[in-house]
Amino acid sequence: MTHAERKARLEALLLGFQALWRPQPFKVETPDWCADHPALAAELLGLDDAAVDALSADNQGLIALLGRFVPALAELAALIDLPAVSPPPPADEGRLYTDIPGRKQAQIKAYATALGAPRAPLLEWCAGKGHLGRLLAHRWHWPVASLEIDNALCDAGEDLARHARVDCRQHFIRADALAAGSIRHLAGRHAIALHACGDLHTRLVAGAVAEASPAIDVAPCCYYRTVHAHYRPLNPTGLTLSHDDLRLAVTETVTASAKQRRQSRQALAWKLGWVELRKALTGETAYTPFPPVPEAWLRGTFAEFVERMRERANIVMPAPARPDLFTRFEAIGHARAARMLRLQLARLAFRRPLEVWLLMDMAVYLERHGYAVTVAPFCPPDLTPRNLLLSARRYT
Ligand SMILES: C[S@@+](CC[C@H](N)C(=O)[O-])C[C@H]1O[C@@H](n2cnc3c(N)ncnc32)[C@H](O)[C@@H]1O
Repeated sequence: MTHAERKARLEALLLGFQALWRPQPFKVETPDWCADHPALAAELLGLDDAAVDALSADNQGLIALLGRFVPALAELAALIDLPAVSPPPPADEGRLYTDIPGRKQAQIKAYATALGAPRAPLLEWCAGKGHLGRLLAHRWHWPVASLEIDNALCDAGEDLARHARVDCRQHFIRADALAAGSIRHLAGRHAIALHACGDLHTRLVAGAVAEASPAIDVAPCCYYRTVHAHYRPLNPTGLTLSHDDLRLAVTETVTASAKQRRQSRQALAWKLGWVELRKALTGETAYTPFPPVPEAWLRGTFAEFVERMRERANIVMPAPARPDLFTRFEAIGHARAARMLRLQLARLAFRRPLEVWLLMDMAVYLERHGYAVTVAPFCPPDLTPRNLLLSARRYT
Protein backbone atom coordinates (compact mmCIF):
# COMPACT_ATOMS: atom_id res chain seq x y z
CA MET A 1 0.00 0.00 0.00
CA THR A 2 1.41 3.42 -0.90
CA HIS A 3 1.43 6.21 1.65
CA ALA A 4 -1.11 8.11 -0.45
CA GLU A 5 -3.43 5.09 -0.46
CA ARG A 6 -3.03 4.57 3.28
CA LYS A 7 -3.73 8.25 3.88
CA ALA A 8 -6.83 8.18 1.66
CA ARG A 9 -8.28 5.05 3.32
CA LEU A 10 -7.63 6.41 6.82
CA GLU A 11 -9.13 9.74 5.85
CA ALA A 12 -12.29 8.09 4.50
CA LEU A 13 -12.78 6.14 7.75
CA LEU A 14 -11.92 9.10 10.00
CA LEU A 15 -14.38 11.30 8.12
CA GLY A 16 -17.06 8.61 7.83
CA PHE A 17 -17.00 7.78 11.53
CA GLN A 18 -16.26 11.16 13.14
CA ALA A 19 -19.34 10.73 15.33
CA LEU A 20 -17.44 7.98 17.17
CA TRP A 21 -14.20 9.86 17.86
CA ARG A 22 -14.90 13.61 17.98
CA PRO A 23 -17.20 13.74 21.06
CA GLN A 24 -15.33 13.54 24.36
CA PRO A 25 -17.21 11.52 27.00
CA PHE A 26 -15.55 13.70 29.67
CA LYS A 27 -17.57 16.61 28.33
CA VAL A 28 -20.62 14.75 26.98
CA GLU A 29 -22.06 12.09 29.28
CA THR A 30 -23.80 10.20 26.47
CA PRO A 31 -22.37 10.88 23.01
CA ASP A 32 -24.94 10.82 20.18
CA TRP A 33 -23.38 7.69 18.68
CA CYS A 34 -24.76 5.65 21.62
CA ALA A 35 -28.24 5.98 20.06
CA ASP A 36 -26.97 4.85 16.64
CA HIS A 37 -24.89 1.96 18.00
CA PRO A 38 -26.73 0.78 21.14
CA ALA A 39 -25.17 -2.70 21.08
CA LEU A 40 -21.65 -1.19 21.02
CA ALA A 41 -22.53 1.18 23.89
CA ALA A 42 -23.97 -1.72 25.92
CA GLU A 43 -20.89 -3.86 25.28
CA LEU A 44 -18.54 -1.08 26.43
CA LEU A 45 -20.63 -0.18 29.47
CA GLY A 46 -20.65 -3.86 30.49
CA LEU A 47 -16.84 -4.20 30.60
CA ASP A 48 -15.15 -4.76 33.96
CA ASP A 49 -12.25 -2.58 35.15
CA ALA A 50 -9.56 -5.08 34.11
CA ALA A 51 -10.95 -5.25 30.56
CA VAL A 52 -11.12 -1.44 30.37
CA ASP A 53 -7.47 -1.16 31.46
CA ALA A 54 -6.33 -3.84 29.02
CA LEU A 55 -8.25 -2.37 26.07
CA SER A 56 -7.10 1.18 26.84
CA ALA A 57 -3.54 0.06 26.09
CA ASP A 58 -4.32 -2.13 23.07
CA ASN A 59 -4.91 -0.32 19.78
CA GLN A 60 -5.52 -3.49 17.77
CA GLY A 61 -7.81 -4.88 20.51
CA LEU A 62 -9.91 -1.69 20.42
CA ILE A 63 -10.24 -1.88 16.65
CA ALA A 64 -11.18 -5.59 16.80
CA LEU A 65 -13.91 -4.77 19.34
CA LEU A 66 -15.31 -1.88 17.29
CA GLY A 67 -15.12 -3.97 14.12
CA ARG A 68 -17.55 -6.50 15.67
CA PHE A 69 -20.21 -3.80 15.82
CA VAL A 70 -19.19 -1.59 12.89
CA PRO A 71 -17.65 -3.98 10.32
CA ALA A 72 -16.26 -1.21 8.08
CA LEU A 73 -13.87 -0.26 10.90
CA ALA A 74 -12.12 -3.65 10.88
CA GLU A 75 -9.99 -2.27 8.02
CA LEU A 76 -8.29 0.10 10.49
CA ALA A 77 -6.31 -2.90 11.79
CA ALA A 78 -4.34 -3.16 8.55
CA LEU A 79 -4.09 0.60 8.11
CA ILE A 80 -2.21 1.11 11.41
CA ASP A 81 -0.04 -1.96 10.91
CA LEU A 82 3.35 -0.59 9.83
CA PRO A 83 6.39 -2.85 9.45
CA ALA A 84 8.61 -2.64 12.53
CA VAL A 85 12.32 -1.91 12.47
CA SER A 86 14.43 -4.69 14.03
CA PRO A 87 15.50 -4.14 17.67
CA PRO A 88 18.91 -2.52 18.33
CA PRO A 89 21.95 -4.75 18.90
CA PRO A 90 23.65 -4.46 22.30
CA ALA A 91 26.54 -2.01 22.12
CA ASP A 92 29.37 -1.07 24.46
CA GLU A 93 29.04 2.69 24.48
CA GLY A 94 28.75 3.16 28.27
CA ARG A 95 30.24 6.61 28.72
CA LEU A 96 27.99 8.05 26.02
CA TYR A 97 24.93 7.39 28.13
CA THR A 98 25.92 9.28 31.29
CA ASP A 99 22.91 11.25 32.53
CA ILE A 100 20.36 9.59 30.22
CA PRO A 101 17.43 7.93 32.03
CA GLY A 102 16.95 4.24 31.12
CA ARG A 103 13.91 4.52 28.88
CA LYS A 104 15.31 7.52 26.97
CA GLN A 105 18.56 5.58 26.49
CA ALA A 106 16.71 2.68 24.94
CA GLN A 107 14.73 5.05 22.67
CA ILE A 108 17.91 6.71 21.46
CA LYS A 109 19.68 3.41 20.72
CA ALA A 110 16.63 2.16 18.82
CA TYR A 111 16.30 5.41 16.86
CA ALA A 112 20.02 5.37 15.96
CA THR A 113 19.75 1.81 14.71
CA ALA A 114 16.65 2.55 12.64
CA LEU A 115 18.36 5.59 11.11
CA GLY A 116 21.30 3.58 9.76
CA ALA A 117 24.20 5.41 8.10
CA PRO A 118 23.81 9.20 7.92
CA ARG A 119 23.77 10.74 4.46
CA ALA A 120 25.52 13.99 5.38
CA PRO A 121 26.63 16.02 8.42
CA LEU A 122 23.79 15.86 10.92
CA LEU A 123 21.50 18.59 12.21
CA GLU A 124 19.69 17.56 15.39
CA TRP A 125 16.48 19.62 15.58
CA CYS A 126 15.22 20.53 19.10
CA ALA A 127 18.06 18.51 20.56
CA GLY A 128 17.57 18.88 24.31
CA LYS A 129 20.95 17.83 25.73
CA GLY A 130 21.86 16.34 22.36
CA HIS A 131 21.87 12.72 23.55
CA LEU A 132 20.97 11.36 20.12
CA GLY A 133 23.48 13.59 18.33
CA ARG A 134 26.21 12.55 20.77
CA LEU A 135 25.62 8.86 20.05
CA LEU A 136 25.60 9.42 16.28
CA ALA A 137 28.74 11.60 16.42
CA HIS A 138 30.47 8.72 18.21
CA ARG A 139 29.16 5.95 15.96
CA TRP A 140 29.56 7.55 12.57
CA HIS A 141 32.25 10.22 13.02
CA TRP A 142 30.09 12.75 11.20
CA PRO A 143 29.89 16.35 12.46
CA VAL A 144 26.66 16.97 14.39
CA ALA A 145 25.07 20.37 14.99
CA SER A 146 22.48 20.20 17.80
CA LEU A 147 19.95 23.03 17.61
CA GLU A 148 18.19 23.84 20.90
CA ILE A 149 16.46 26.93 22.33
CA ASP A 150 17.19 26.27 26.03
CA ASN A 151 20.64 27.55 27.06
CA ALA A 152 20.86 25.35 30.16
CA LEU A 153 20.26 22.23 28.02
CA CYS A 154 22.92 23.41 25.53
CA ASP A 155 25.42 23.93 28.40
CA ALA A 156 24.67 20.47 29.79
CA GLY A 157 24.91 18.96 26.28
CA GLU A 158 28.31 20.56 25.72
CA ASP A 159 29.59 19.08 29.02
CA LEU A 160 28.28 15.65 28.07
CA ALA A 161 29.91 15.87 24.63
CA ARG A 162 33.24 16.72 26.29
CA HIS A 163 32.87 13.85 28.74
CA ALA A 164 32.14 11.46 25.85
CA ARG A 165 35.07 12.94 23.88
CA VAL A 166 32.94 13.85 20.87
CA ASP A 167 33.09 17.64 21.43
CA CYS A 168 35.35 17.89 18.38
CA ARG A 169 32.42 16.69 16.28
CA GLN A 170 29.26 17.81 18.15
CA HIS A 171 28.47 21.49 18.69
CA PHE A 172 25.32 23.28 19.82
CA ILE A 173 23.41 25.97 17.95
CA ARG A 174 21.48 28.08 20.46
CA ALA A 175 18.48 29.09 18.40
CA ASP A 176 14.70 29.12 18.14
CA ALA A 177 13.75 26.47 15.56
CA LEU A 178 10.69 28.56 14.64
CA ALA A 179 12.69 31.72 13.90
CA ALA A 180 12.79 32.62 10.23
CA GLY A 181 16.57 32.12 9.92
CA SER A 182 16.75 28.68 11.52
CA ILE A 183 15.89 26.56 8.50
CA ARG A 184 19.10 27.65 6.78
CA HIS A 185 20.92 25.26 9.17
CA LEU A 186 19.17 22.42 7.34
CA ALA A 187 20.88 23.07 4.00
CA GLY A 188 23.16 20.18 3.07
CA ARG A 189 22.43 18.41 6.38
CA HIS A 190 20.81 15.13 7.30
CA ALA A 191 18.06 16.39 9.63
CA ILE A 192 17.17 14.31 12.68
CA ALA A 193 14.57 14.94 15.37
CA LEU A 194 13.45 12.81 18.28
CA HIS A 195 10.19 13.98 19.81
CA ALA A 196 9.95 17.45 18.35
CA CYS A 197 6.46 18.74 19.19
CA GLY A 198 3.73 20.07 16.87
CA ASP A 199 4.88 23.19 15.02
CA LEU A 200 8.52 22.19 15.59
CA HIS A 201 8.29 19.00 13.52
CA THR A 202 6.08 20.51 10.80
CA ARG A 203 8.55 23.42 10.50
CA LEU A 204 11.36 20.87 10.20
CA VAL A 205 9.65 19.00 7.38
CA ALA A 206 8.76 22.15 5.43
CA GLY A 207 12.21 23.68 6.12
CA ALA A 208 14.07 20.55 5.03
CA VAL A 209 12.12 20.55 1.75
CA ALA A 210 12.80 24.26 1.22
CA GLU A 211 16.53 23.75 1.85
CA ALA A 212 16.64 20.46 -0.12
CA SER A 213 18.10 18.53 2.83
CA PRO A 214 19.44 15.20 1.59
CA ALA A 215 17.74 13.22 4.36
CA ILE A 216 15.24 13.64 7.19
CA ASP A 217 14.45 11.34 10.11
CA VAL A 218 11.75 12.60 12.42
CA ALA A 219 9.82 10.98 15.26
CA PRO A 220 7.09 13.54 15.98
CA CYS A 221 5.16 14.04 19.22
CA CYS A 222 2.57 16.37 20.83
CA TYR A 223 0.80 17.23 17.56
CA TYR A 224 -1.51 19.59 19.46
CA ARG A 225 1.34 21.97 20.37
CA THR A 226 0.64 24.44 17.61
CA VAL A 227 -0.09 28.12 17.62
CA HIS A 228 -2.72 27.55 14.94
CA ALA A 229 -6.36 26.89 15.86
CA HIS A 230 -6.39 23.82 13.61
CA TYR A 231 -3.86 21.41 12.15
CA ARG A 232 -2.46 22.85 8.93
CA PRO A 233 -2.43 19.94 6.50
CA LEU A 234 0.47 19.62 4.09
CA ASN A 235 -1.77 18.17 1.34
CA PRO A 236 -5.35 18.86 0.24
CA THR A 237 -7.80 17.13 2.60
CA GLY A 238 -11.38 17.27 3.84
CA LEU A 239 -10.27 16.48 7.39
CA THR A 240 -10.17 19.38 9.85
CA LEU A 241 -8.44 18.72 13.16
CA SER A 242 -8.81 20.90 16.27
CA HIS A 243 -6.43 20.90 19.25
CA ASP A 244 -8.73 18.42 21.03
CA ASP A 245 -8.63 16.11 18.00
CA LEU A 246 -4.84 16.38 17.84
CA ARG A 247 -4.62 15.51 21.52
CA LEU A 248 -6.44 12.27 20.79
CA ALA A 249 -3.47 11.15 18.67
CA VAL A 250 -1.21 11.24 21.74
CA THR A 251 -3.50 9.93 24.48
CA GLU A 252 -1.70 6.59 24.60
CA THR A 253 0.77 6.59 27.51
CA VAL A 254 3.42 4.21 28.75
CA THR A 255 1.75 1.66 31.04
CA ALA A 256 1.18 3.21 34.47
CA SER A 257 1.64 1.37 37.77
CA ALA A 258 -1.44 0.21 39.72
CA LYS A 259 -0.90 3.12 42.17
CA GLN A 260 -0.69 5.71 39.34
CA ARG A 261 -3.84 4.23 37.77
CA ARG A 262 -5.70 4.51 41.09
CA GLN A 263 -4.59 8.12 41.52
CA SER A 264 -5.51 9.15 38.01
CA ARG A 265 -8.91 7.44 38.33
CA GLN A 266 -9.59 9.34 41.55
CA ALA A 267 -8.50 12.62 39.93
CA LEU A 268 -10.85 11.94 37.03
CA ALA A 269 -13.74 11.10 39.39
CA TRP A 270 -13.20 14.28 41.42
CA LYS A 271 -13.08 16.47 38.32
CA LEU A 272 -16.28 14.90 37.02
CA GLY A 273 -17.84 15.21 40.48
CA TRP A 274 -17.02 18.91 40.29
CA VAL A 275 -18.43 19.19 36.73
CA GLU A 276 -21.76 17.77 37.95
CA LEU A 277 -21.83 19.80 41.19
CA ARG A 278 -21.12 22.96 39.24
CA LYS A 279 -24.09 22.24 36.98
CA ALA A 280 -26.28 21.67 40.05
CA LEU A 281 -25.14 24.96 41.64
CA THR A 282 -25.42 27.13 38.54
CA GLY A 283 -28.29 25.48 36.67
CA GLU A 284 -26.07 25.26 33.56
CA THR A 285 -26.62 22.14 31.52
CA ALA A 286 -23.61 22.33 29.18
CA TYR A 287 -20.05 21.40 30.12
CA THR A 288 -17.92 24.39 31.18
CA PRO A 289 -14.16 24.01 30.59
CA PHE A 290 -11.78 24.71 33.48
CA PRO A 291 -8.01 25.39 33.64
CA PRO A 292 -5.61 22.57 34.62
CA VAL A 293 -6.00 21.46 38.25
CA PRO A 294 -2.84 21.80 40.41
CA GLU A 295 -1.68 18.35 41.64
CA ALA A 296 -1.73 19.54 45.26
CA TRP A 297 -5.50 20.14 45.08
CA LEU A 298 -6.03 16.44 44.51
CA ARG A 299 -4.23 15.34 47.67
CA GLY A 300 -6.73 16.45 50.35
CA THR A 301 -10.40 15.55 50.59
CA PHE A 302 -13.06 15.89 47.90
CA ALA A 303 -14.71 18.70 49.95
CA GLU A 304 -11.42 20.67 50.00
CA PHE A 305 -10.95 20.09 46.29
CA VAL A 306 -14.46 21.38 45.56
CA GLU A 307 -13.87 24.46 47.69
CA ARG A 308 -10.79 25.35 45.64
CA MET A 309 -12.52 24.74 42.33
CA ARG A 310 -15.54 26.75 43.47
CA GLU A 311 -13.44 29.70 44.62
CA ARG A 312 -11.39 29.72 41.41
CA ALA A 313 -14.54 29.61 39.27
CA ASN A 314 -16.13 32.29 41.48
CA ILE A 315 -19.27 30.26 42.08
CA VAL A 316 -21.32 30.91 45.19
CA MET A 317 -22.63 28.12 47.39
CA PRO A 318 -26.19 29.31 48.17
CA ALA A 319 -26.13 28.01 51.76
CA PRO A 320 -23.44 26.31 53.91
CA ALA A 321 -22.90 22.97 52.22
CA ARG A 322 -24.02 19.87 54.13
CA PRO A 323 -21.35 17.16 54.34
CA ASP A 324 -23.62 14.71 52.50
CA LEU A 325 -23.53 17.01 49.45
CA PHE A 326 -19.84 16.21 49.01
CA THR A 327 -20.35 12.48 49.62
CA ARG A 328 -23.14 12.46 47.02
CA PHE A 329 -21.20 14.33 44.33
CA GLU A 330 -18.02 12.34 44.93
CA ALA A 331 -20.07 9.19 44.26
CA ILE A 332 -21.60 10.83 41.16
CA GLY A 333 -18.06 11.64 39.99
CA HIS A 334 -16.97 8.01 40.38
CA ALA A 335 -20.00 6.78 38.45
CA ARG A 336 -19.36 9.28 35.65
CA ALA A 337 -15.67 8.34 35.52
CA ALA A 338 -16.52 4.64 35.17
CA ARG A 339 -18.95 5.47 32.35
CA MET A 340 -16.51 7.83 30.66
CA LEU A 341 -13.62 5.34 30.70
CA ARG A 342 -15.87 2.78 28.99
CA LEU A 343 -17.51 4.99 26.37
CA GLN A 344 -14.24 6.66 25.45
CA LEU A 345 -12.87 3.31 24.26
CA ALA A 346 -14.75 3.95 20.99
CA ARG A 347 -12.81 7.21 20.64
CA LEU A 348 -9.49 5.65 21.63
CA ALA A 349 -9.79 3.13 18.80
CA PHE A 350 -9.13 6.06 16.46
CA ARG A 351 -6.04 7.48 18.18
CA ARG A 352 -3.46 5.40 16.31
CA PRO A 353 -5.31 5.82 12.97
CA LEU A 354 -5.21 9.58 13.55
CA GLU A 355 -1.50 9.52 14.38
CA VAL A 356 -0.74 7.37 11.32
CA TRP A 357 -2.80 9.77 9.17
CA LEU A 358 -0.72 12.72 10.45
CA LEU A 359 2.47 10.89 9.51
CA MET A 360 1.03 9.97 6.12
CA ASP A 361 0.31 13.66 5.54
CA MET A 362 4.04 14.36 6.04
CA ALA A 363 5.07 11.31 4.01
CA VAL A 364 2.94 12.22 1.00
CA TYR A 365 4.17 15.82 1.14
CA LEU A 366 7.80 14.68 1.15
CA GLU A 367 7.15 12.23 -1.70
CA ARG A 368 5.65 15.06 -3.74
CA HIS A 369 8.91 16.96 -3.16
CA GLY A 370 11.28 14.29 -4.39
CA TYR A 371 11.92 12.06 -1.39
CA ALA A 372 11.66 8.29 -0.91
CA VAL A 373 9.84 7.83 2.41
CA THR A 374 9.31 5.06 4.94
CA VAL A 375 7.27 5.22 8.14
CA ALA A 376 7.86 2.53 10.75
CA PRO A 377 7.92 2.00 14.52
CA PHE A 378 11.52 2.36 15.71
CA CYS A 379 10.92 0.84 19.16
CA PRO A 380 8.18 -1.02 21.03
CA PRO A 381 5.39 1.19 22.43
CA ASP A 382 6.33 0.43 26.03
CA LEU A 383 9.52 2.48 25.51
CA THR A 384 7.49 5.33 24.08
CA PRO A 385 4.06 5.30 22.43
CA ARG A 386 5.42 8.05 20.11
CA ASN A 387 7.41 5.37 18.37
CA LEU A 388 6.81 6.13 14.70
CA LEU A 389 9.82 7.25 12.68
CA LEU A 390 9.45 8.93 9.31
CA SER A 391 12.60 8.54 7.20
CA ALA A 392 12.96 10.46 3.95
CA ARG A 393 15.85 10.27 1.49
CA ARG A 394 16.10 12.76 -1.34
CA TYR A 395 16.40 11.33 -4.84
CA THR A 396 19.58 12.76 -6.31
C1 LIG B 1 10.45 16.67 23.98
S1 LIG B 1 12.01 17.49 24.06
C2 LIG B 1 13.02 16.42 23.07
C3 LIG B 1 14.47 16.62 23.31
C4 LIG B 1 15.39 15.59 22.64
N1 LIG B 1 15.21 15.57 21.22
C5 LIG B 1 15.17 14.21 23.25
O1 LIG B 1 14.47 13.40 22.67
O2 LIG B 1 15.72 13.98 24.34
C6 LIG B 1 11.75 18.88 23.00
C7 LIG B 1 12.92 19.85 22.99
O3 LIG B 1 12.58 20.92 22.10
C8 LIG B 1 13.12 22.11 22.64
N2 LIG B 1 12.41 23.25 22.05
C9 LIG B 1 11.16 23.67 22.33
N3 LIG B 1 10.85 24.74 21.58
C10 LIG B 1 11.92 24.99 20.80
C11 LIG B 1 12.20 25.97 19.80
N4 LIG B 1 11.29 26.89 19.49
N5 LIG B 1 13.39 25.94 19.19
C12 LIG B 1 14.31 25.00 19.52
N6 LIG B 1 14.11 24.04 20.45
C13 LIG B 1 12.92 24.04 21.08
C14 LIG B 1 12.89 21.97 24.13
O4 LIG B 1 13.70 22.85 24.88
C15 LIG B 1 13.24 20.49 24.32
O5 LIG B 1 14.60 20.33 24.60
